[in-house]
Amino acid sequence: MAPSGAMSDPAPESKPASDTNGLPPRVLSGLQPSGDLHLGNYFGAIQQHIALQDEYPGECLFFIADYHALTTVRDAELLRRNTREIAVTYLAFGLDLERAALFRQSDVPEVTELMWLLACATGTGLLERAHSFKDKIAHGIKPTAGLFCYPLLMAADILVYQSSMVPVGKDQVQHVEMAQDMATHFNEQFGAGQAILRRPEWRLSKSPYVPGLDGGKMSKTYGNTIPIWSTGKDLRKRIGGIVTDSTPLGQPLPVESDKVLALLDLVLDEHEREEVRDWYRAGARQGQPFGYGHAKMLLADRIDAYFADARARRDRLLAQPELVEDALRESATQARALAAATLDRCRAATGLR
Ligand code: TRP
Repeated sequence: MAPSGAMSDPAPESKPASDTNGLPPRVLSGLQPSGDLHLGNYFGAIQQHIALQDEYPGECLFFIADYHALTTVRDAELLRRNTREIAVTYLAFGLDLERAALFRQSDVPEVTELMWLLACATGTGLLERAHSFKDKIAHGIKPTAGLFCYPLLMAADILVYQSSMVPVGKDQVQHVEMAQDMATHFNEQFGAGQAILRRPEWRLSKSPYVPGLDGGKMSKTYGNTIPIWSTGKDLRKRIGGIVTDSTPLGQPLPVESDKVLALLDLVLDEHEREEVRDWYRAGARQGQPFGYGHAKMLLADRIDAYFADARARRDRLLAQPELVEDALRESATQARALAAATLDRCRAATGLR
């Protein structure tokens, strides 16, 4: 992001806006550093986040949700490594710091202060209704207070930058709606109805179907992933393990339900997608039998090629950790200025100052 004021400040603190319509759009999203990044993360989130810098240049904030990751990660070195990996991945895919910020959540500690202020304006019933919390309990997880407060922290992330638009997957929509409610409750209780905090909107990320190796949705929870940076033998081995039906070589293959084809669709262009469908329907390519083995070989080659440029950029970035660290810090400084302005307004509204 441009160093000097490319992002407009929120309304001046001396004159709390009675409505926030005058604020510029601001896009915000976060990704948890809690596992290896896989094709589902790329096509479902990262690719779309980066595209937003064209649509909203200078108004995009992306952060690595390391505080959130502490609800699950218990290995400090792993957390550092996963955090670095997300940073390097966004940069390798072309996140442009002139147009978007990329920072660590914990480099903006104002977030935790706002979380407390929101906690004091939020009923416990709201938190008890969170689907993701209830799901985890249903799966036998013994919740920490951190897990219970997860939506408060996420609302603080969103509200502290006066975000207007939060691109998320389906599973996170409820969390953004809770942030809307918390903003309203805070404004009513501490702001006498004035818009101290801006009400955010969610925007559903396009969710292309990314099947995992076992045919279910690709997710680190199911251990069925293809990591973005897998290449060569490892990639071929994983793809070899994709579950297919038992159509014999040379017979027509199903084009509706096959997972290899669904994955090919993500990395082929329109013309190639049609061509491969013809091979599937014929069970043959240029007069030679075409089966799942061939489709998998093609998939491995294409994934390898699709990510080759980004992989080379990633390798260069991994060799310059100070450069990545500087980028994170520089972005955090800009984000922190926005957060500090919001906290000033909130402290004034509550009577802390
Ligand atoms: N909870 C989100 C997820 O797991 C990550 C996240 C944390 C987030 N804070 C956020 C996303 C704020 C959007 C906005 O995917």
